[in-house]
Amino acid sequence: MKLTDRLLKIASLVTKGKRVADIGTDHGYIPVYLLNKGYVDFAILADVNKGPLENARSEVRHNNLLEKVDLRLGSGIEVLEVNEVDEVIIAGMGGILISELLEAKKEVAHSVDKLILQPMQAQNELRKYLLNNGYEILDEVLVKEDFRIYEIIIAKYTGKNTVIEDEIYYEVGKKLIESKDPLLNEFIDKKVFMYNSILKKIEGKTGEGINKKIEESKLAINKLEKLRY
Ligand SMILES: C[S@@+](CC[C@H](N)C(=O)[O-])C[C@H]1O[C@@H](n2cnc3c(N)ncnc32)[C@H](O)[C@@H]1O
Repeated sequence: MKLTDRLLKIASLVTKGKRVADIGTDHGYIPVYLLNKGYVDFAILADVNKGPLENARSEVRHNNLLEKVDLRLGSGIEVLEVNEVDEVIIAGMGGILISELLEAKKEVAHSVDKLILQPMQAQNELRKYLLNNGYEILDEVLVKEDFRIYEIIIAKYTGKNTVIEDEIYYEVGKKLIESKDPLLNEFIDKKVFMYNSILKKIEGKTGEGINKKIEESKLAINKLEKLRY
């Protein structure tokens, strides 16, 4: 088993020696990698679907790690009790689903030291949820795999909401700008390209909705251009 760059980056964000849960584990590659390296001693692997959980079980068995894991069938962090793990990974799902999973068992989401979240879509919605529901975004990193750039958000519940000066920071996390993430400029290029594609698609069309879309896209491009380093 060789981890892809996305999975390796997520694994690298787990703190050594902590108890970790991988929610929506599917193949189970991240916890198996961490256990094999001796980086963690215990992991909970969970998935809402039987097939993926059985994939994870086979991977764990194949690596002789059965005594170091707990495999649980169920949705999100509902399979966890408070204080069972220190850190939770939720990767490879949509940002809205991730926020719904956190909301579904807040006592667990609020109690862990670290949430390592890797949304595939609606990353802005997830940031908005976190910052307006008492979570602090501790850090963010970008990772490139093939042609796609993935966003990884590390958060922790503090009970304090964070006010952002501009909605653009829901789209491009502030931590990425502060740390001058090595992939930030390329990430912004991709976003600008996407907005320009929208503008091209609606070029020559008119109507209230179209005009609003044009305005919004131009404004977003303008703001994005200023975030480069
Ligand atoms: C695309 S895979 C991601 C696998 C792995 N986490 C990764 O990042 O490569 C999504 C996994 O999430 C699981 N899943 C979807 N909804 C879920 C939920 N509500 N609770 C737990 N797992 C869920 C699916 O069954 C699937 O195995």
